[in-house]
Amino acid sequence: MRNIAVFCSGNGSNFEAILKANKNNRLGFRVALMVCDNPKAFALQRASKHNIPTVLISPKLFESREEYEKFIVRILKSQGIDALVLAGFMRILTPYLIKTYKNRIVNIHPSYLPAFKGAHAIKDAFESRVSTTGVSVHIVTDKLDSGKILKQQKIKISAKDTLESLEKRIHAVEHKLYPQVIAKFVRHLN
Ligand code: GRF
Repeated sequence: MRNIAVFCSGNGSNFEAILKANKNNRLGFRVALMVCDNPKAFALQRASKHNIPTVLISPKLFESREEYEKFIVRILKSQGIDALVLAGFMRILTPYLIKTYKNRIVNIHPSYLPAFKGAHAIKDAFESRVSTTGVSVHIVTDKLDSGKILKQQKIKISAKDTLESLEKRIHAVEHKLYPQVIAKFVRHLN
């Protein structure tokens, strides 16, 4: 059974969707750890509710992003983590971490990439009045939101949509898609 660590900075709804879909490890992996950089993240409460061990470390304690990641990697290695799953982790990873877990880091992004990269993808799509946006799961490389796409789903934006209703629909799609993509990704790790 492969061990994954989920990385969160905020709400953690994808993290919890992964836990629920993977009840009794039925998707074939174990969520061994949740890594968090924000003491106010609601994801921490979700981890506690599901008894998932948590690593909460402030990047401010370290001289550089790489030093921060080195500390985290020591923990990941000690826990036998095979793959990293980013779920609303609001930090850009350095080449050090990306190299250490080369092709073993996935991310979910709330747009149909390559459209609307960046931290405000849902709002950007909504405000630019496109008729379709979506959700993408991709491998993390050192170019932001640009690694190999593992799975994408389109989502129509209707005239009746508000930003809130669109966000809700996008998150619902994410919650269904991500656990399944992670399961397949982890199955194919060598
Ligand atoms: C999701 O929309 C995800 O696509 C993006 O950040 C958001 C995280 O939401 N990367 P949550 O913390 O999982 O609720």
